[in-house]
Amino acid sequence: MRIVMIGSGYVGLVSGACLADFGHHVTCVDKSVAKIDALEAGEVPIFEPGLDMIIEQNRKAGRLHFSKELARSVAEADVVFIAVGTPSRRGDGHADLTYVYAAAREIAAAVSGFTVVVTKSTVPVGTGDEIERIFREEFPEQEIAVVSNPEFLREGAAITDFKRPDRIVIGTEDARATQIMREVYRPLYLNEAPLYFCERRTSELIKYAANAFLAMKITFINEIADLCEQIGADVQKVAKGIGMDKRIGDKFLHAGPGYGGSCFPKDTLALVKTAQDFGSPVRLIETTVSINDNRKRAMGRKVIAACDGSVRAKKIAILGLTFKPNTDDMRDAPSITIVQALLDGGASVHVYDPEGMDAARGVLGPVTYGKNPYDIAAGADAIVLVTEWDEFRALDFNRLKELMQNPVLVDLRNIYPTDEVTRHGFRYFAVGKRN
Ligand code: UGA
Repeated sequence: MRIVMIGSGYVGLVSGACLADFGHHVTCVDKSVAKIDALEAGEVPIFEPGLDMIIEQNRKAGRLHFSKELARSVAEADVVFIAVGTPSRRGDGHADLTYVYAAAREIAAAVSGFTVVVTKSTVPVGTGDEIERIFREEFPEQEIAVVSNPEFLREGAAITDFKRPDRIVIGTEDARATQIMREVYRPLYLNEAPLYFCERRTSELIKYAANAFLAMKITFINEIADLCEQIGADVQKVAKGIGMDKRIGDKFLHAGPGYGGSCFPKDTLALVKTAQDFGSPVRLIETTVSINDNRKRAMGRKVIAACDGSVRAKKIAILGLTFKPNTDDMRDAPSITIVQALLDGGASVHVYDPEGMDAARGVLGPVTYGKNPYDIAAGADAIVLVTEWDEFRALDFNRLKELMQNPVLVDLRNIYPTDEVTRHGFRYFAVGKRN
């Protein structure tokens, strides 16, 4: 099977590399000359555990190629995936489909013979219909089936998610496209991965509904966490207690500083807008979006409260900046709002992240970047653990206490048992526990 992946960003690169690893012949295309040059030189522009190895192996095996030339690559393809970005449109929160439609037109002009064009980018309901209309009206001579195949992989666990998915959703009612999509995923099918076929519009909505549900689940436990702090209960035990009920499930019930990243914030907002446009508002998700926005600011206030009500002229050490561990992604990371709140409060903010500091330099205000947790803890009035990287899970509290001005730990990810921290003479503030 000859596959072309348009867009070599996060989803395109992971999907392209994994499909090549299944034995398909894959070309990843991108308009960015710098990105393709880097990939051809063996550099991987994103941090994703295991991805560099898969790319290298499949390039060596001659199954994975990179190209700037869309037309030439597409002409030989059986399947073309569109995996370009769909950022939030400035001003109204709708997904911006400029890149999707531009790619679709370029593809249609270049295909030869029956070709399946698959949207892997997260696109609002009806986008597949619009692409099909463009093909029908502007390229009536081309034989193209338009299919929706949303991606459910998580950053940091993308390779496993791609190769061992809970399900693969494929939106098409075209018999030939169905057959070809089965072949694309056949290597997974032998592993009994469930292929779920449905109509294209349904498939497009499944993606938004899944992300919105997960965002809502996180927001639910975050509100329960706030309640726990007031009434003296422990949110981790509440989460465990409700998660044991199979109808609820134990995943995505970790209370924290609010969800971030490139997907939940953007997709919840886009679903809210679509639903309003169709006159069928999704009020649970509207509320989720607003609670999550407020929560990030509230985390700044939580740190200030832990510092006896003021951070003016105090040194605050921030551990972890990325929106979650095992990624260098800073998009919509809660750290951005928290750091800003502390700067506004007059603090001197020192930060450290294992992978995210380059990206952070573009988005954080005037902070000092350190070399490791102990470097930024020297003389600090509080440490704030924002992202739960593995290297923060076994901190040397004796050493930290000696280094710090005031031994205060605000753990926004609840990675430590209270007594382990307080035993070392720290004041410990967690999420959803009586402090
Ligand atoms: C999310 C979905 O989990 C993927 O299934 C989906 O494919 C992806 O969006 C996408 O649409 O592309 P991702 O954004 O990589 O994946 O990260 P998650 O692991 O879902 O975490 C999202 C945010 O929720 C992070 O800020 C994380 O810290 C937070 N979170 C997650 C919690 O606060 N509590 C939890 O229990 C789980």
